Amino acid sequence: MTVKKIALTGIKPSGSPHIGNFLGAIKPALELTKDHEARYFIADYHALTTVRDKKLLKEQVYDLAATWLAAGLNPDEVVFYRQSDIPEVFELSWILSCLTAKGLLNRAHSYKDSVDKNIEKAKDPDEGINCGLYYYPILMASDILAFNTDVVPVGQDQKQHLEITRDIAQAFNMAYGEVFTIPNAIIHEDVKTIPGVDGRKMSKSYNNVIPLFASQQELKKAVSQIVTDSKGVDEPKDPDQCKLFSIYSHFATVKDIEKTRAKYMSGGLGYGDLKKELVDLIDNVVSEGRKTYESLINNRERIDWILEEGAEKARMIAGPLLQKVRHAIGMQ
Ligand code: TRP
Repeated sequence: MTVKKIALTGIKPSGSPHIGNFLGAIKPALELTKDHEARYFIADYHALTTVRDKKLLKEQVYDLAATWLAAGLNPDEVVFYRQSDIPEVFELSWILSCLTAKGLLNRAHSYKDSVDKNIEKAKDPDEGINCGLYYYPILMASDILAFNTDVVPVGQDQKQHLEITRDIAQAFNMAYGEVFTIPNAIIHEDVKTIPGVDGRKMSKSYNNVIPLFASQQELKKAVSQIVTDSKGVDEPKDPDQCKLFSIYSHFATVKDIEKTRAKYMSGGLGYGDLKKELVDLIDNVVSEGRKTYESLINNRERIDWILEEGAEKARMIAGPLLQKVRHAIGMQ
């Protein structure tokens, strides 16, 4: 019997998940559970770097938990937990910070971007930047290294964080012996650029998302807002320049994509009709999940219970690893 590799990923609870999150993060992560031991969590302490509204943060944690579960995560098979329930992660983050070159964090994209924006506006370089944002990559390294992770499915935007994690793990192993597994990123290239309804990358911050488990009406409304050019039904259209076609391609079968591509090029297919088809396609994928989502979001004790169970299992993994780390550094 081959030993299964360990997959781990976290999602920040920052706003209701949309189909971009589903296609780009949740679905590929769930596919990995078939042949990996999976550890998936809600990165609530990462969200604390930006969210100040405590009620909202709590809501978003429930929302994300219900979304993972409704998308098909089976908590009997996946260790599913909330980051803040695992104290070992935070102890490890201090230890790792002592082995991390400050320059490594200075070069981290999200910190550097914030500094650059300040400099552009002739402000103090660190204005409005909290230490949590600066330390973000170390907490993420702790999330990953506390669980013997082999692979981390993430979006392209997280690639540098994985490189930093590997650097930190290697620095530790060099100093104290082979304690940590060096993790690899799995980057899902094909879905990294799912466009939003305005054609830019689908993102909450652009307010251009197609919601995942929202009502059918909300789904229709979002799809109707997908921007197209003004070509009439009979005019030939260029599928490769069309965001509607691009979103459609994420949901349709290969055969249907080819048929629609041909109709685009010959003329005879209106954008309105394709939007109707797209609503049906998305609805088909999400309608089961929508029911589960609605029942879970109205039963928060059940979510609490699932996350508590998950935290117990997670601590049974992170606890012994932390023992090993403490021993390695001479604390025990
Ligand atoms: N930084 C990730 C994001 O913003 C979320 C995250 C936190 C994460 N800890 C992680 C992802 C550990 C993978 C592994 O999307």
